[in-house]
Amino acid sequence: MENIFLNRQSKFRSLLQATSFDLAVLNPSPTLVYLTGLEFHLMERPILFLFSKTNPPILFLPELENTKVKQLPYPLTVITYGEDPSTWIEEFRKSRNALDNPTISLIGVEETHLRFLEYEFLHAVFPSSKIRSCQSLISELRIRKDGVEKGWISQAIRIAEEGLTNTLPTIKPGITEQELANELVIHLIRCGSDPQLPFFPIIASGENSANPHAIPTERKIQAGDVIVIDWGARYHGYISDLTRTFVIGKAPQEFEIIYKIVKNANQIGSQSVMPGIQAGEIDRLVRNQIEQSGFGDYFTHRTGHGIGLETHEEPYIRADNKQILQPGMTFTIEPGIYLPRKFGVRIEDNVYVSDTGSEILSTLSRDLITL
Ligand code: CO
Repeated sequence: MENIFLNRQSKFRSLLQATSFDLAVLNPSPTLVYLTGLEFHLMERPILFLFSKTNPPILFLPELENTKVKQLPYPLTVITYGEDPSTWIEEFRKSRNALDNPTISLIGVEETHLRFLEYEFLHAVFPSSKIRSCQSLISELRIRKDGVEKGWISQAIRIAEEGLTNTLPTIKPGITEQELANELVIHLIRCGSDPQLPFFPIIASGENSANPHAIPTERKIQAGDVIVIDWGARYHGYISDLTRTFVIGKAPQEFEIIYKIVKNANQIGSQSVMPGIQAGEIDRLVRNQIEQSGFGDYFTHRTGHGIGLETHEEPYIRADNKQILQPGMTFTIEPGIYLPRKFGVRIEDNVYVSDTGSEILSTLSRDLITL
């Protein structure tokens, strides 16, 4: 365990060496946590991590964060700055000077995390360097989860499942979606989730359930409602992301048929996962199943997305994704059917690609539960 960050850094270094990037630059992000274990809030003060093909990494950060970088289990060159913003660019120049080879033509950054603030620092100190996204390199680094990561994801799933199970008794006519979401959050934290949940739970009742990304409202849950609950927990930084659909009392017309179609599609998706096939193939199999049942127009999103330190990461389970599934990849399978102004159904599980097939890491029943 103590060399986990050094191992990850050396993996990243070999990946970087095979590219034309001279330097990868990160700001506080899940990738920085992955490589260093260091967590910082994104604030008005810039934090930049410079990772080259040869040097130990360099970290540029505010003096007040210095305690976080004492006694790290790997070499790190630390350059700090004080509270006067007018000195920061000059201080950042020291990071460039600390590089063995300050001739940098191409800098790789994370397109979904680097801010304009950090971009400006980079541009000022490396004026003649090109700055490009190195997202594919980052994905290559993080996409296959090792045994430890799989264990943490599994634990995040256990916590989410227990948290929901403990919340179910509070689902009664009269409680609002928001109140229910708050209850669920409390149970997730009590069951051991890291305080920073992957996302605030989606509780969508009645016709709100026809909106795949609904935000909990003041709507009171009532008899005859369908309720879609999409929630997750976090453990050691790693997330789970699950969805179950329930019904209160007597189900609306067509509900049971649709539930069965979604459940079958979910099962087909999870069971067809294996190393060697394209991610897109999983989406096509799931989509075909729903299309053949006549509800293809109402399955309006991709089948799934990778999970790990981020709630949405590669591989994306989308029809056009030719990426080949490999052991260790971990993602959601979450088909849904959404009938506007009526109701929606989604069933989401978390699946791990094993050496020979797949492991469905989530265990909560997929049978229709009437509350
Ligand atoms: Co999801």
